[in-house]
Amino acid sequence: MPNRFTERPYFFNWRKSMSDWANAFKGKFNWRSKSEVPTETEVKETKTVERKTPVDLFEKCFNFTRADEVKAAGLYPYFRPIEENEGPVVQIEGRKIIMAGSNNYLGLTAHPEVKEAAIKAIEKYGTGCSGSRYLTGTLDLHNEFEYKLAKFMGKEACLLFSTGYQTAQGIIPTLVQRGEYVITDKDNHASIVAGVIMARGMSAEFVRYKHNDMDDLERVIKRTPFEAGKLIVTDGVFSTTGDIVDLPRLVSIAKKYNARILVDDAHAVGVIGKGGRGTASHFNLVDEVDMTFGTFSKTFASLGGFVVGSERVINYLKHHSSALIFSASPTPASVAAALKALEILEREPERIDKLIRNSNKMRKGFKEAGFKIIDGQTAIIPVIIGDDLLAFKFWKELFDNGVFVNTFISPGVPPGMQMMRTSYMATHEDEHLDQILDAFIKVGKKLGLIN
Ligand SMILES: Cc1ncc(COP(=O)(O)O)c(C=O)c1O
Repeated sequence: MPNRFTERPYFFNWRKSMSDWANAFKGKFNWRSKSEVPTETEVKETKTVERKTPVDLFEKCFNFTRADEVKAAGLYPYFRPIEENEGPVVQIEGRKIIMAGSNNYLGLTAHPEVKEAAIKAIEKYGTGCSGSRYLTGTLDLHNEFEYKLAKFMGKEACLLFSTGYQTAQGIIPTLVQRGEYVITDKDNHASIVAGVIMARGMSAEFVRYKHNDMDDLERVIKRTPFEAGKLIVTDGVFSTTGDIVDLPRLVSIAKKYNARILVDDAHAVGVIGKGGRGTASHFNLVDEVDMTFGTFSKTFASLGGFVVGSERVINYLKHHSSALIFSASPTPASVAAALKALEILEREPERIDKLIRNSNKMRKGFKEAGFKIIDGQTAIIPVIIGDDLLAFKFWKELFDNGVFVNTFISPGVPPGMQMMRTSYMATHEDEHLDQILDAFIKVGKKLGLIN
Protein backbone atom coordinates (compact mmCIF):
# COMPACT_ATOMS: atom_id res chain seq x y z
CA MET A 1 0.00 0.00 0.00
CA PRO A 2 1.43 3.41 -0.81
CA ASN A 3 2.31 5.57 2.16
CA ARG A 4 2.73 9.35 2.31
CA PHE A 5 6.40 9.10 1.39
CA THR A 6 6.14 6.74 -1.56
CA GLU A 7 3.12 8.61 -2.84
CA ARG A 8 4.69 12.06 -2.82
CA PRO A 9 8.48 11.83 -2.68
CA TYR A 10 9.04 15.33 -4.05
CA PHE A 11 6.62 17.13 -1.79
CA PHE A 12 8.28 19.06 0.97
CA ASN A 13 5.54 21.08 2.55
CA TRP A 14 6.65 20.96 6.16
CA ARG A 15 3.81 23.17 7.38
CA LYS A 16 1.26 20.78 5.96
CA SER A 17 3.04 17.70 7.33
CA MET A 18 3.30 19.23 10.79
CA SER A 19 -0.39 20.10 10.86
CA ASP A 20 -1.26 16.59 9.58
CA TRP A 21 0.68 15.12 12.46
CA ALA A 22 -0.87 17.50 14.97
CA ASN A 23 -4.38 16.63 13.76
CA ALA A 24 -3.67 12.91 13.82
CA PHE A 25 -2.69 13.08 17.49
CA LYS A 26 -5.24 15.67 18.59
CA GLY A 27 -6.93 14.57 21.81
CA LYS A 28 -5.17 11.19 21.83
CA PHE A 29 -2.51 12.21 24.31
CA ASN A 30 -2.49 14.36 27.43
CA TRP A 31 1.15 14.81 28.13
CA ARG A 32 0.44 15.71 31.80
CA SER A 33 -2.69 15.44 33.85
CA LYS A 34 -3.60 18.44 36.04
CA SER A 35 -2.28 16.74 39.19
CA GLU A 36 1.08 16.37 37.48
CA VAL A 37 1.53 20.10 36.89
CA PRO A 38 5.07 20.83 38.28
CA THR A 39 5.65 22.98 41.32
CA GLU A 40 7.63 26.19 41.04
CA THR A 41 10.70 24.51 42.59
CA GLU A 42 10.50 21.66 40.11
CA VAL A 43 10.34 24.12 37.25
CA LYS A 44 13.42 25.96 38.56
CA GLU A 45 15.31 22.68 39.00
CA THR A 46 14.36 21.46 35.55
CA LYS A 47 15.40 24.75 34.05
CA THR A 48 18.78 24.58 35.80
CA VAL A 49 19.39 21.03 34.65
CA GLU A 50 18.27 21.74 31.08
CA ARG A 51 20.35 24.87 30.53
CA LYS A 52 22.61 24.30 27.57
CA THR A 53 25.80 25.99 26.47
CA PRO A 54 24.69 28.89 24.33
CA VAL A 55 25.70 28.74 20.69
CA ASP A 56 27.07 31.88 19.08
CA LEU A 57 25.21 32.58 15.86
CA PHE A 58 28.49 33.63 14.26
CA GLU A 59 30.29 30.39 15.08
CA LYS A 60 29.78 29.10 11.55
CA CYS A 61 31.48 32.25 10.24
CA PHE A 62 34.48 31.84 12.55
CA ASN A 63 34.76 28.19 11.53
CA PHE A 64 34.57 28.92 7.80
CA THR A 65 38.19 28.86 6.69
CA ARG A 66 38.04 27.16 3.30
CA ALA A 67 38.31 30.41 1.34
CA ASP A 68 41.25 31.58 3.52
CA GLU A 69 43.07 28.34 2.83
CA VAL A 70 42.62 28.69 -0.93
CA LYS A 71 43.74 32.34 -0.69
CA ALA A 72 46.82 31.35 1.34
CA ALA A 73 47.69 28.85 -1.40
CA GLY A 74 47.44 31.71 -3.95
CA LEU A 75 44.67 29.94 -5.85
CA TYR A 76 41.59 32.02 -4.94
CA PRO A 77 39.64 32.85 -8.14
CA TYR A 78 36.75 34.90 -6.74
CA PHE A 79 36.16 38.64 -6.18
CA ARG A 80 39.10 39.60 -8.42
CA PRO A 81 38.80 43.33 -9.01
CA ILE A 82 38.72 44.39 -12.66
CA GLU A 83 40.49 47.70 -13.18
CA GLU A 84 39.39 48.37 -16.76
CA ASN A 85 36.86 46.62 -18.97
CA GLU A 86 36.76 46.79 -22.76
CA GLY A 87 34.68 43.60 -23.07
CA PRO A 88 36.80 40.75 -24.42
CA VAL A 89 39.91 42.17 -22.77
CA VAL A 90 40.01 43.40 -19.16
CA GLN A 91 42.73 44.70 -16.90
CA ILE A 92 43.39 42.86 -13.64
CA GLU A 93 46.41 43.47 -11.39
CA GLY A 94 47.76 45.81 -14.07
CA ARG A 95 47.77 43.06 -16.72
CA LYS A 96 45.63 42.70 -19.84
CA ILE A 97 43.61 39.50 -19.53
CA ILE A 98 41.26 37.89 -22.03
CA MET A 99 37.81 37.51 -20.52
CA ALA A 100 36.23 34.12 -21.18
CA GLY A 101 33.77 34.05 -18.31
CA SER A 102 31.51 37.04 -18.79
CA ASN A 103 27.81 37.04 -19.67
CA ASN A 104 28.29 40.18 -21.76
CA TYR A 105 27.14 38.08 -24.71
CA LEU A 106 26.90 40.72 -27.40
CA GLY A 107 29.83 42.69 -25.98
CA LEU A 108 27.68 45.78 -25.53
CA THR A 109 28.84 46.97 -22.09
CA ALA A 110 31.62 48.95 -23.77
CA HIS A 111 29.60 50.04 -26.82
CA PRO A 112 29.84 53.84 -27.26
CA GLU A 113 26.10 54.23 -27.97
CA VAL A 114 25.17 52.25 -24.85
CA LYS A 115 27.51 54.31 -22.68
CA GLU A 116 26.21 57.53 -24.17
CA ALA A 117 22.59 56.53 -23.56
CA ALA A 118 23.38 55.88 -19.88
CA ILE A 119 25.18 59.21 -19.50
CA LYS A 120 22.34 61.13 -21.16
CA ALA A 121 19.78 59.43 -18.91
CA ILE A 122 21.73 60.52 -15.84
CA GLU A 123 21.81 64.06 -17.17
CA LYS A 124 18.07 64.05 -17.77
CA TYR A 125 16.70 62.04 -14.82
CA GLY A 126 19.53 62.02 -12.27
CA THR A 127 21.27 58.99 -10.78
CA GLY A 128 18.36 57.18 -9.12
CA CYS A 129 14.58 56.99 -8.94
CA SER A 130 14.33 57.10 -5.13
CA GLY A 131 11.07 55.18 -5.12
CA SER A 132 9.38 52.01 -6.31
CA ARG A 133 7.66 51.67 -9.66
CA TYR A 134 4.36 51.63 -7.77
CA LEU A 135 4.83 55.05 -6.24
CA THR A 136 7.29 57.73 -7.34
CA GLY A 137 9.78 55.56 -9.25
CA THR A 138 8.20 55.17 -12.69
CA LEU A 139 9.86 57.13 -15.50
CA ASP A 140 8.62 57.43 -19.06
CA LEU A 141 11.84 55.52 -19.82
CA HIS A 142 10.58 52.47 -17.87
CA ASN A 143 7.30 52.53 -19.79
CA GLU A 144 9.08 52.92 -23.13
CA PHE A 145 11.37 49.98 -22.44
CA GLU A 146 8.47 47.81 -21.23
CA TYR A 147 6.53 48.56 -24.39
CA LYS A 148 9.50 47.81 -26.69
CA LEU A 149 10.60 44.68 -24.83
CA ALA A 150 7.09 43.19 -24.82
CA LYS A 151 6.88 43.80 -28.55
CA PHE A 152 10.33 42.30 -29.14
CA MET A 153 9.46 39.17 -27.14
CA GLY A 154 6.08 38.80 -28.87
CA LYS A 155 3.99 39.26 -25.71
CA GLU A 156 1.27 41.71 -24.69
CA ALA A 157 3.01 43.33 -21.76
CA CYS A 158 6.23 43.62 -19.80
CA LEU A 159 7.20 44.61 -16.27
CA LEU A 160 10.68 45.73 -15.19
CA PHE A 161 12.29 44.81 -11.87
CA SER A 162 15.56 45.96 -10.35
CA THR A 163 17.44 42.69 -10.93
CA GLY A 164 16.76 39.34 -12.56
CA TYR A 165 17.09 37.64 -9.17
CA GLN A 166 14.39 39.89 -7.79
CA THR A 167 12.18 39.22 -10.81
CA ALA A 168 11.90 35.52 -9.93
CA GLN A 169 11.05 36.47 -6.36
CA GLY A 170 8.55 38.98 -7.68
CA ILE A 171 6.69 36.48 -9.86
CA ILE A 172 6.67 33.03 -8.24
CA PRO A 173 5.33 33.75 -4.72
CA THR A 174 2.91 36.32 -6.13
CA LEU A 175 1.30 33.89 -8.54
CA VAL A 176 1.55 30.56 -6.74
CA GLN A 177 -0.52 30.64 -3.58
CA ARG A 178 -1.94 28.31 -0.93
CA GLY A 179 -3.08 25.02 -2.44
CA GLU A 180 -1.37 25.77 -5.77
CA TYR A 181 1.76 24.11 -7.11
CA VAL A 182 5.12 25.32 -8.34
CA ILE A 183 6.93 22.62 -10.29
CA THR A 184 10.60 23.29 -10.82
CA ASP A 185 13.65 21.74 -12.51
CA LYS A 186 16.26 20.62 -9.95
CA ASP A 187 18.98 22.60 -11.73
CA ASN A 188 17.08 25.87 -12.04
CA HIS A 189 18.91 29.08 -11.21
CA ALA A 190 19.24 30.18 -7.58
CA SER A 191 16.83 33.07 -8.17
CA ILE A 192 14.08 30.56 -9.00
CA VAL A 193 14.99 28.49 -5.96
CA ALA A 194 14.63 31.62 -3.81
CA GLY A 195 11.27 32.40 -5.42
CA VAL A 196 10.07 28.85 -4.78
CA ILE A 197 11.17 29.02 -1.14
CA MET A 198 9.18 32.23 -0.72
CA ALA A 199 6.12 30.62 -2.30
CA ARG A 200 6.47 27.64 0.06
CA GLY A 201 6.72 30.03 2.99
CA MET A 202 3.34 31.33 1.90
CA SER A 203 1.90 27.81 1.88
CA ALA A 204 2.18 26.99 -1.81
CA GLU A 205 2.97 23.39 -2.70
CA PHE A 206 6.33 22.53 -4.19
CA VAL A 207 7.47 19.76 -6.52
CA ARG A 208 10.85 19.21 -8.19
CA TYR A 209 11.76 17.09 -11.18
CA LYS A 210 15.07 15.74 -12.45
CA HIS A 211 17.08 18.11 -14.61
CA ASN A 212 15.45 18.57 -18.03
CA ASP A 213 13.86 15.12 -17.66
CA MET A 214 10.37 15.36 -19.10
CA ASP A 215 9.45 11.80 -18.08
CA ASP A 216 10.17 12.79 -14.50
CA LEU A 217 8.22 16.02 -14.91
CA GLU A 218 5.22 14.00 -16.07
CA ARG A 219 5.68 11.51 -13.23
CA VAL A 220 5.58 14.24 -10.57
CA ILE A 221 2.91 16.42 -12.13
CA LYS A 222 0.59 13.42 -12.50
CA ARG A 223 0.47 13.20 -8.71
CA THR A 224 -0.75 16.75 -8.24
CA PRO A 225 -4.50 17.38 -8.21
CA PHE A 226 -5.60 18.10 -11.78
CA GLU A 227 -7.85 20.95 -10.72
CA ALA A 228 -5.14 22.80 -8.72
CA GLY A 229 -3.38 25.82 -10.26
CA LYS A 230 0.17 24.93 -11.33
CA LEU A 231 3.23 26.75 -12.58
CA ILE A 232 6.12 24.91 -14.24
CA VAL A 233 9.30 26.98 -13.94
CA THR A 234 12.44 26.28 -15.91
CA ASP A 235 15.60 27.93 -17.14
CA GLY A 236 15.48 28.29 -20.92
CA VAL A 237 19.25 27.94 -21.19
CA PHE A 238 20.63 26.44 -17.98
CA SER A 239 23.19 28.76 -16.49
CA THR A 240 25.83 26.26 -15.39
CA THR A 241 25.75 23.76 -18.21
CA GLY A 242 24.43 25.87 -21.10
CA ASP A 243 21.94 23.19 -22.21
CA ILE A 244 18.53 24.17 -23.57
CA VAL A 245 15.28 23.02 -21.95
CA ASP A 246 13.22 20.43 -23.83
CA LEU A 247 10.48 22.99 -24.30
CA PRO A 248 8.30 21.13 -26.84
CA ARG A 249 7.73 18.26 -24.41
CA LEU A 250 7.38 20.59 -21.45
CA VAL A 251 4.66 22.52 -23.29
CA SER A 252 2.71 19.37 -24.13
CA ILE A 253 2.90 18.17 -20.50
CA ALA A 254 1.78 21.59 -19.26
CA LYS A 255 -1.25 21.45 -21.58
CA LYS A 256 -2.14 17.93 -20.54
CA TYR A 257 -1.99 18.68 -16.80
CA ASN A 258 -3.46 22.19 -16.63
CA ALA A 259 -0.20 24.01 -15.88
CA ARG A 260 1.13 27.46 -16.79
CA ILE A 261 4.75 27.96 -17.88
CA LEU A 262 7.43 30.42 -16.74
CA VAL A 263 10.80 30.37 -18.54
CA ASP A 264 13.96 32.08 -17.26
CA ASP A 265 15.69 33.37 -20.38
CA ALA A 266 18.64 35.11 -18.71
CA HIS A 267 21.11 33.19 -20.91
CA ALA A 268 18.84 32.84 -23.93
CA VAL A 269 17.80 36.36 -24.96
CA GLY A 270 20.32 37.69 -27.46
CA VAL A 271 21.73 34.19 -27.91
CA ILE A 272 19.06 31.81 -29.28
CA GLY A 273 15.71 32.23 -31.02
CA LYS A 274 14.81 34.40 -33.98
CA GLY A 275 16.84 37.59 -33.74
CA GLY A 276 17.80 36.60 -30.16
CA ARG A 277 14.20 36.35 -28.92
CA GLY A 278 15.00 33.47 -26.58
CA THR A 279 13.92 29.92 -25.89
CA ALA A 280 10.24 30.07 -26.83
CA SER A 281 11.16 31.62 -30.17
CA HIS A 282 13.94 29.03 -30.68
CA PHE A 283 11.26 26.33 -30.59
CA ASN A 284 8.56 28.39 -32.29
CA LEU A 285 6.46 28.24 -29.11
CA VAL A 286 6.06 31.90 -28.19
CA ASP A 287 2.27 31.65 -27.80
CA GLU A 288 2.49 28.44 -25.77
CA VAL A 289 4.86 29.86 -23.13
CA ASP A 290 2.83 31.99 -20.71
CA MET A 291 5.65 34.07 -19.26
CA THR A 292 9.34 34.64 -19.88
CA PHE A 293 11.60 36.50 -17.51
CA GLY A 294 15.16 37.66 -17.86
CA THR A 295 17.84 40.08 -16.91
CA PHE A 296 19.59 43.17 -18.26
CA SER A 297 22.88 41.94 -16.79
CA LYS A 298 23.88 39.79 -19.76
CA THR A 299 22.90 40.57 -23.37
CA PHE A 300 21.42 43.93 -22.33
CA ALA A 301 24.74 45.15 -20.89
CA SER A 302 23.21 46.70 -17.78
CA LEU A 303 21.47 45.81 -14.51
CA GLY A 304 17.80 44.97 -14.02
CA GLY A 305 15.17 42.34 -14.74
CA PHE A 306 11.97 41.89 -16.70
CA VAL A 307 9.01 39.60 -17.22
CA VAL A 308 6.79 39.43 -20.30
CA GLY A 309 3.36 37.82 -20.55
CA SER A 310 -0.31 38.61 -21.01
CA GLU A 311 -1.56 42.06 -20.05
CA ARG A 312 -3.86 40.67 -17.33
CA VAL A 313 -1.08 38.72 -15.60
CA ILE A 314 1.41 41.59 -15.81
CA ASN A 315 -1.28 43.91 -14.42
CA TYR A 316 -1.82 41.51 -11.49
CA LEU A 317 1.93 41.39 -10.78
CA LYS A 318 2.08 45.19 -10.92
CA HIS A 319 -0.46 45.42 -8.11
CA HIS A 320 0.54 42.43 -5.96
CA SER A 321 4.26 41.71 -6.34
CA SER A 322 6.00 42.69 -3.16
CA ALA A 323 9.49 42.57 -4.79
CA LEU A 324 8.23 45.24 -7.17
CA ILE A 325 6.15 47.38 -4.85
CA PHE A 326 8.62 47.51 -1.96
CA SER A 327 11.87 48.04 -3.84
CA ALA A 328 13.20 51.02 -5.78
CA SER A 329 12.93 50.90 -9.55
CA PRO A 330 15.89 50.34 -11.90
CA THR A 331 18.00 53.47 -12.28
CA PRO A 332 17.66 55.75 -15.32
CA ALA A 333 21.16 54.83 -16.52
CA SER A 334 20.44 51.08 -16.23
CA VAL A 335 17.21 51.32 -18.20
CA ALA A 336 18.61 53.64 -20.86
CA ALA A 337 21.63 51.37 -21.40
CA ALA A 338 19.44 48.26 -21.71
CA LEU A 339 17.05 50.07 -24.04
CA LYS A 340 19.93 51.06 -26.30
CA ALA A 341 21.27 47.49 -26.17
CA LEU A 342 17.86 46.23 -27.35
CA GLU A 343 17.95 48.73 -30.20
CA ILE A 344 21.41 47.51 -31.26
CA LEU A 345 20.34 43.87 -30.95
CA GLU A 346 17.43 44.51 -33.33
CA ARG A 347 19.52 46.60 -35.69
CA GLU A 348 22.53 44.27 -35.83
CA PRO A 349 21.37 40.64 -35.63
CA GLU A 350 24.72 39.64 -37.15
CA ARG A 351 26.15 40.03 -33.63
CA ILE A 352 24.26 36.87 -32.63
CA ASP A 353 25.68 34.97 -35.60
CA LYS A 354 29.17 36.01 -34.56
CA LEU A 355 28.52 34.95 -30.96
CA ILE A 356 27.36 31.50 -32.06
CA ARG A 357 30.23 31.19 -34.55
CA ASN A 358 32.69 32.06 -31.76
CA SER A 359 31.12 29.56 -29.37
CA ASN A 360 31.09 26.80 -31.98
CA LYS A 361 34.75 27.46 -32.82
CA MET A 362 35.62 27.05 -29.12
CA ARG A 363 33.51 23.89 -28.72
CA LYS A 364 35.32 22.36 -31.69
CA GLY A 365 38.71 23.50 -30.39
CA PHE A 366 38.17 22.05 -26.91
CA LYS A 367 36.95 18.74 -28.29
CA GLU A 368 39.85 18.44 -30.74
CA ALA A 369 42.30 19.16 -27.95
CA GLY A 370 40.82 16.27 -25.95
CA PHE A 371 38.98 18.22 -23.24
CA LYS A 372 35.78 16.89 -21.76
CA ILE A 373 33.12 19.54 -22.29
CA ILE A 374 29.36 19.77 -21.95
CA ASP A 375 28.31 20.05 -25.56
CA GLY A 376 25.56 22.41 -26.68
CA GLN A 377 24.43 25.24 -28.92
CA THR A 378 24.68 28.28 -26.65
CA ALA A 379 27.44 30.67 -25.58
CA ILE A 380 28.27 28.71 -22.41
CA ILE A 381 30.88 25.93 -22.63
CA PRO A 382 31.78 24.10 -19.42
CA VAL A 383 35.18 22.40 -19.51
CA ILE A 384 35.14 19.60 -16.95
CA ILE A 385 38.08 19.42 -14.57
CA GLY A 386 36.58 16.96 -12.09
CA ASP A 387 38.24 17.95 -8.79
CA ASP A 388 38.11 21.02 -6.53
CA LEU A 389 41.85 21.51 -6.00
CA LEU A 390 42.67 20.76 -9.62
CA ALA A 391 40.01 23.31 -10.65
CA PHE A 392 41.64 26.02 -8.49
CA LYS A 393 45.08 25.14 -9.92
CA PHE A 394 43.72 25.15 -13.45
CA TRP A 395 42.14 28.54 -12.94
CA LYS A 396 45.38 30.01 -11.53
CA GLU A 397 47.49 28.66 -14.39
CA LEU A 398 45.03 30.06 -16.93
CA PHE A 399 45.09 33.41 -15.15
CA ASP A 400 48.89 33.44 -15.20
CA ASN A 401 48.62 32.73 -18.93
CA GLY A 402 46.35 35.74 -19.43
CA VAL A 403 42.89 34.13 -19.49
CA PHE A 404 40.04 34.63 -17.01
CA VAL A 405 37.27 32.02 -16.64
CA ASN A 406 34.78 31.02 -13.93
CA THR A 407 35.65 28.24 -11.53
CA PHE A 408 32.72 26.11 -10.35
CA ILE A 409 33.51 23.68 -7.54
CA SER A 410 31.39 21.38 -5.37
CA PRO A 411 28.89 21.69 -3.78
CA GLY A 412 27.92 24.28 -6.43
CA VAL A 413 28.25 21.46 -8.97
CA PRO A 414 28.14 17.71 -8.22
CA PRO A 415 31.50 16.08 -7.38
CA GLY A 416 33.27 15.11 -10.60
CA MET A 417 31.66 18.01 -12.47
CA GLN A 418 33.99 20.73 -11.17
CA MET A 419 34.54 22.94 -14.16
CA MET A 420 36.01 25.94 -15.88
CA ARG A 421 32.77 27.52 -17.03
CA THR A 422 33.69 29.45 -20.14
CA SER A 423 31.40 31.83 -22.02
CA TYR A 424 31.83 33.92 -25.12
CA MET A 425 31.03 37.29 -26.64
CA ALA A 426 30.22 38.53 -30.11
CA THR A 427 33.18 40.88 -29.71
CA HIS A 428 35.78 38.14 -29.22
CA GLU A 429 38.00 38.09 -32.28
CA ASP A 430 39.72 34.96 -33.57
CA GLU A 431 43.00 36.05 -32.01
CA HIS A 432 41.33 36.19 -28.56
CA LEU A 433 39.76 32.77 -29.03
CA ASP A 434 43.04 31.26 -30.23
CA GLN A 435 44.83 32.64 -27.19
CA ILE A 436 42.16 31.15 -24.90
CA LEU A 437 42.52 27.74 -26.58
CA ASP A 438 46.33 27.88 -26.52
CA ALA A 439 46.26 28.68 -22.79
CA PHE A 440 43.81 25.82 -22.11
CA ILE A 441 45.95 23.36 -24.07
CA LYS A 442 49.17 24.47 -22.34
CA VAL A 443 47.62 24.22 -18.86
CA GLY A 444 45.68 21.04 -19.70
CA LYS A 445 48.94 19.31 -20.67
CA LYS A 446 50.84 20.67 -17.67
CA LEU A 447 48.20 19.45 -15.22
CA GLY A 448 47.71 16.11 -16.99
CA LEU A 449 44.15 16.71 -18.16
CA ILE A 450 44.96 16.15 -21.81
CA ASN A 451 47.90 14.55 -23.62
C1 LIG B 1 19.60 31.86 -15.18
C2 LIG B 1 19.65 33.14 -14.40
N1 LIG B 1 18.52 33.67 -13.93
C3 LIG B 1 18.51 34.82 -13.24
C4 LIG B 1 19.68 35.49 -12.97
C5 LIG B 1 19.64 36.73 -12.13
O1 LIG B 1 19.87 37.85 -12.90
P1 LIG B 1 20.49 39.19 -12.27
O2 LIG B 1 21.97 39.14 -12.47
O3 LIG B 1 19.85 40.27 -13.06
O4 LIG B 1 20.09 39.24 -10.84
C6 LIG B 1 20.89 34.99 -13.44
C7 LIG B 1 22.14 35.73 -13.18
O5 LIG B 1 23.17 35.23 -12.93
C8 LIG B 1 20.88 33.78 -14.17
O6 LIG B 1 22.01 33.24 -14.61
